[in-house]
Amino acid sequence: MSVRILGIESSCDETAAAVVADGQEILSSVVASQIEIHRKYGGVVPELASREHLRQIVPVVREALAQAGMQLAEVDAIGVTQGPGLVGALLVGITYGKTLAEALGKPLVGVNHLEGHVHAVFLEAHKAGRAAKMPAVCLIVSGGHTVLYEVTAEEPGVQDSGTRLRYRKVGQTRDDAAGEAYDKVAKLLGLGYPGGPILDRLAAASNGATALVKFGPTKMKGNSLDFSFSGLKTAVLYHLREHPEYNEEIRTREAALQRGERKFEELKPLCSPQTLGLVREFQNAVVRNLVERTMRAAEELGVESVLVSGGVAANSQLRATFEERAKAAGVAVFFPSRALSTDNAAMIAAAAYARLRNGILADSRLNADPSLVLA
Ligand code: KG4
Ligand code: ZN
Repeated sequence: MSVRILGIESSCDETAAAVVADGQEILSSVVASQIEIHRKYGGVVPELASREHLRQIVPVVREALAQAGMQLAEVDAIGVTQGPGLVGALLVGITYGKTLAEALGKPLVGVNHLEGHVHAVFLEAHKAGRAAKMPAVCLIVSGGHTVLYEVTAEEPGVQDSGTRLRYRKVGQTRDDAAGEAYDKVAKLLGLGYPGGPILDRLAAASNGATALVKFGPTKMKGNSLDFSFSGLKTAVLYHLREHPEYNEEIRTREAALQRGERKFEELKPLCSPQTLGLVREFQNAVVRNLVERTMRAAEELGVESVLVSGGVAANSQLRATFEERAKAAGVAVFFPSRALSTDNAAMIAAAAYARLRNGILADSRLNADPSLVLA
């Protein structure tokens, strides 16, 4: 008999529930995104997020069970995100998860959201009939996090869904997360929210467009595996200030966004070649920063695999560059699919399975920890 875990995720702006069997087979995965609610503020508004989680949590869990063809009583355990994240948002999922576990008399597992992102990579690998060999380095890169871990298993070798993994933080951002830089630069350029997907496509469409600016590599004092993105964002801001010729097209795009025209096909014709060049240079700088440091860590630590997860892992140039560099370095690289890259509850259920197998359970005292660390 397989162990079926109901995962619940509510750390940020996605209310999600999923059922995963034995930590590897996704029976259902439902995500209610709040993007439409936060869009007009250009970022997540914590108060609105909590309120929306409250509205969504019950129907989302119900839908996840229905899609898995299960009754609540058939769930073997409940896994819920404990942190990091927005405290009010986390509390909605935790309170609901705790109540369900108590009412059903089933084990409760508290999950670190970041460990969830690591398991998203394993879920995808399993779907593709692959398995990641440990040790690995894992880059988690999203709107809230940019952090690099060394991941090891007690027994080196192929990761199994029940394996207890150990994490050591080897680098992290000292200021903005990479996804945050995408979102802020998109806002400066009048390209809407979230910024990652549109900048990704515009950079790919920039072809030979000449850029008026180039961004050099970011050098770090102290830990050279740390990241920094706020300098890059500020460089874009200063560049725009020094070149008032961008102003008119930015206003034109802002007006288009106001009319609800935010698709790539609608915004691309409103971008001058200089803007496309600027977007390409920005993305080159972000990708270079992320890939250089991760691959250096992989080399220094002599790992078997590179794992890349979080919303920004959906970036096409980041994926292509990692594939190329990992091949040259002789290590395997793993990404989740787009749906598993961004926040979801299947990854929470998968991470919960490994904890359950290792007897790491929570009880009714489980509380939200907005700054929970993985290592
Ligand atoms: O993991 P996620 O859904 O939520 C957080 O935990 O933050 O990540 C969302 C972030 C946003 O900042 C968004 O702009 C970025 O991921 N993102 C991308 C792409 N798709 C989403 N960044 C770059 N390229 C993309 N294709
Ligand atoms: Zn996340």
